[in-house]
Amino acid sequence: MGEREGEVVCVTGGSGYIGSWLVQLLLHRGYTVNATLKNLNDEKETKHLQSLDGANQSNLRLFQMDLLNYDSIVAAVTGAAGVFHVASPCIVDQVQDPQLQLLDPAIKGTINVLTAAKEAGVRRVVVTSSISAIFPSPNWPADVVKDEDCWTDEEYCKQKGVWYPLSKTLAEKAAWKFAVEKGLDIVVVNPGTVMGPIIPPAINASMLMILRLLQGCTETYEDFFMGLVHVKDVALAHILVYENTLATGRHLCVEAISHYGDFAAKVAELYPEYKVPRLPKDTQPGLLRTKDGSKKLKELGLVFTPMEQIIKDSVESLRSKGYLS
Ligand SMILES: NC(=O)c1ccc[n+]([C@@H]2O[C@H](COP(=O)([O-])OP(=O)(O)OC[C@H]3O[C@@H](n4cnc5c(N)ncnc54)[C@H](OP(=O)(O)O)[C@@H]3O)[C@@H](O)[C@H]2O)c1
Repeated sequence: MGEREGEVVCVTGGSGYIGSWLVQLLLHRGYTVNATLKNLNDEKETKHLQSLDGANQSNLRLFQMDLLNYDSIVAAVTGAAGVFHVASPCIVDQVQDPQLQLLDPAIKGTINVLTAAKEAGVRRVVVTSSISAIFPSPNWPADVVKDEDCWTDEEYCKQKGVWYPLSKTLAEKAAWKFAVEKGLDIVVVNPGTVMGPIIPPAINASMLMILRLLQGCTETYEDFFMGLVHVKDVALAHILVYENTLATGRHLCVEAISHYGDFAAKVAELYPEYKVPRLPKDTQPGLLRTKDGSKKLKELGLVFTPMEQIIKDSVESLRSKGYLS
């Protein structure tokens, strides 16, 4: 058990890919976790959480929550010292109705969670944003490595119809505006493409990317990729910025800034038995690479898992869950 024994925190989207890793690590550290999910009667959302090592009825409480239903959020947040706002639709494929499927739950959902947290007297809220609120940003100076000062170009997203980055950008901007105007302590994590062991029974959008690549898909995610990060490191980053009161602002969370082509080449090298396509090296035109993108989190003590290990952990998990033979 950890030093935060019994402190109550709420994790929105606690049954999702990142959310369930975060719940697992918080329980290990001794926190009591209010985890929200969409349907309490669906075993596919509840069972993997209830089966987590060390979880019991007093340290893990499950709440049915809809991001657009304020009262359902209040119930989960009441009594919590901290909130991890992870829930948001994560869809990189084409959507029929961007407003309904992505923008409303991301933006209104964030405001609802922050309002409920403020009303409940929550000390700090960690907001899960994304590199999708940093990239695509075609007007950023071509000779400067992208960092936390860089924001996704909203007009570019609208013109190209890339709605997920727009949803994450507008949601993060709304969160910062709320924090300043209402005086709420928030801190933001901006993860890259998250991969590694899967806890829930369902597969999320980022693990689908590596699965599709191993099956021969030639998509290069031009407007969606800026680097890779291990799911455990993302969960740890959330806890680090929650516990360390010196942590402020945005936190880029990638093992390196890289292109999807770098990742695809490494997957091909490690797993020649699959049909991994040859992709161009520069799949994100103009994106400057660096090993040192996540300086802020490194300074807080995070040691990032390298790309090769992230890929190996992902493939092993996909195999053990039966997605790959
Ligand atoms: N995966 C990545 O590569 C990546 C990278 C950067 C940032 N992120 C961010 O990380 C967060 C979690 O993503 P993930 O990868 O863990 O995907 P995920 O497994 O799909 O998790 C998304 C979570 O949000 C919940 N959710 C979505 N819409 C909701 C609504 N209207 N009401 C209540 N809950 C709702 C989902 O609930 P159900 O499971 O019940 O549908 C799920 O728990 C998101 O904010 C995403 O934008 C992900």
